[in-house]
Amino acid sequence: MGTKIEIAPSILAADFTRLADEINKVENAGANILHLDVMDGHFVPNITIGPPVVASIRKSTRMLLDVHLMIERPENFLEDFIRAGADWISVHVEADRHLDRTLNFLKEKGVQAGVALNPATPVGSLDEVLHLLDYVLIMTVNPGFGGQKFIPSTLEKIRKLKRLAKSDAYRGRIEVDGGIDAGNLSKVLDAGADIIVAGSAIFSREDAAEAILEMKKIAGQYVKIPEIV
Ligand code: DX5
Ligand code: ZN
Repeated sequence: MGTKIEIAPSILAADFTRLADEINKVENAGANILHLDVMDGHFVPNITIGPPVVASIRKSTRMLLDVHLMIERPENFLEDFIRAGADWISVHVEADRHLDRTLNFLKEKGVQAGVALNPATPVGSLDEVLHLLDYVLIMTVNPGFGGQKFIPSTLEKIRKLKRLAKSDAYRGRIEVDGGIDAGNLSKVLDAGADIIVAGSAIFSREDAAEAILEMKKIAGQYVKIPEIV
């Protein structure tokens, strides 16, 4: 199966007083996935949005909603986010003691099931659940804030996961998140990422649509030809 590279804007850097406009702008520029960062002030030192905001966003876009839960005890909130309209949900492996149960629950509910890894967490921590994963979110900064600097050591983790995908041990997608812009995009694409989250690189620009098009153009050089099996 060929994999299309997707640019997923993160609204964290958007103007929240005009959120619907900001969302429309990136949707019109061709984004299919909208990345929503949920933070609880415990797992990460910041607080953002919860289910009511996700539900409002659901009404204002047709994009797939990719909900990144940076919260403790994510298992307690899965139903709320599914009801709010999440299409994809990722929990952090560092925050969920019952990952197998969580992933099976998400799959039962028909939601794309993902796990996020902090920069210091090895890819090997997913060995026993690889078969349950629709995507892995490799954090390329320490989670908590937008606008941070990309951590280069995470590239090796992307490559490692890509190798597992090539050997068929892993069949999901590889999402990367944090500090990615048009300048370093090709590095994560070379390493094997296929879903690229970008916050500041898109919403801190005067023209968010132009930023997306620029990134899509770079990604276009990596369009994968479907493999013949
Ligand atoms: C960070 C969040 C990211 C953030 C990325 O904890 O998970 O999704 O919005 O923002 P940039 O692209 O500005 O690093
Ligand atoms: Zn995120």
